[in-house]
Amino acid sequence: MNIEKITAARGTVTVPGDKSISHRAVMFGAIADGVSKITGFLNGADCMSTIDCFRKMGVKIDVNDSSVTVHGAGMRGLSAPSGTLYTGNSGTTTRLLCGLLAAQSFDCSVNGDASIAKRPMRRVCNPLRLMGAKIDGDYCPLTIHGTQLHGIEYHMEVASAQVKTALILAAMYADGETIIYETEKSRDHTELMLKAMGADIDVDALKITVRPTSRITAQNVTVPGDISSAAFFMALGAVMKDSEITIKNVGVNPTRTGIIDVMRSMGADITLSNERVVTGEKAADITVRTSQLHGVTIGGDIIPRLIDEIPIIAVMAAFADGTTVIRDARELKVKETNRIRAVTDEFTKCGIDITETDDGMIIRGGSCIHSADFKTYGDHRMAMSLCVLAQAADGVFTLDDAECVNVSYPGFFGDLRSLNG
Ligand code: S3P
Repeated sequence: MNIEKITAARGTVTVPGDKSISHRAVMFGAIADGVSKITGFLNGADCMSTIDCFRKMGVKIDVNDSSVTVHGAGMRGLSAPSGTLYTGNSGTTTRLLCGLLAAQSFDCSVNGDASIAKRPMRRVCNPLRLMGAKIDGDYCPLTIHGTQLHGIEYHMEVASAQVKTALILAAMYADGETIIYETEKSRDHTELMLKAMGADIDVDALKITVRPTSRITAQNVTVPGDISSAAFFMALGAVMKDSEITIKNVGVNPTRTGIIDVMRSMGADITLSNERVVTGEKAADITVRTSQLHGVTIGGDIIPRLIDEIPIIAVMAAFADGTTVIRDARELKVKETNRIRAVTDEFTKCGIDITETDDGMIIRGGSCIHSADFKTYGDHRMAMSLCVLAQAADGVFTLDDAECVNVSYPGFFGDLRSLNG
């Protein structure tokens, strides 16, 4: 596909619902007592994989565009699926299911696409095994033999909300208390939502205590827009000339706003307005105007707060004055693709001065960027980042696979076009 170019980015856009919250609203609603109505649900491929898996376990779920109704089956109400649960491209579906399935009274298998088959599952299977889980394999396909789990005290090895959530789900079914210590704070949508639904969870900084929970109660969820999707327009507004974009109703949970902190430290003109709380999650409108950015160093405990935004931060760094260093981001190697390698290869192709490092990248801004045929590696966030890069650069750019944006943002190209000012 030829990347269509807009001349300036001006106007207002509403991005689809938060992917992490949409997954959780379906999963937790499925094991709750009662009916949950979810509005602003992300109707993208990943969250549809979650819905398909729970339908296969007997949960009635009605989908009407971004409105979803989940008829909760209760914590002991899931039934054995007749075949393998297929999780598509979704790491969140796969890993969260491991925690939940380990505690059921049936066996089942989980598998996903070629990218999922390469993503490490040991990080979730091993702590679950310490709880007594019986899981065959460390990569998909996994077979999980449901059993009674036990509480443990566990120090996490990676900052991962997927691993944390799998353990919290398993811990609710365990026969004793579980204490989880995080290395750094990762997104906390699970803790917020499950606590609101009545789960016995306490959070004290990096320590999470989960006590056995026999029931959670359905709640209606209004999902805010995904800051990881808004990030593409935040960057576009900053790097494109004559631009001003307002992104409405974006989730600004503090565990997700590393991109705002980084953009401010790069000198971006970015403001939040209409700040509010919706179903326990902070939300705001975000306005970004054309800005002369400068390079920064990004590392340490901010990384989990912006892990999915690193490809688009790298795009901003390419247009910034000076050098940007991204470190402590080894996790990028095990995302939908190796994002350190993918960003480095594609940026190099169009003339950007970038060096791959073991835990990140170094980008020297201000290179003369030229035409290129970009590869997405089937990664939705690579596709959208490269598309933003093309908007602010001179030249003609193509993408080998534009379809992959459907994983998290099916209307991305239309929304981009709508900003053409
Ligand atoms: C997610 C957690 C993050 C993130 C992913 C969504 C979640 O992954 O990259 O896109 O919803 O819990 P990790 O837990 O592997 O860091």
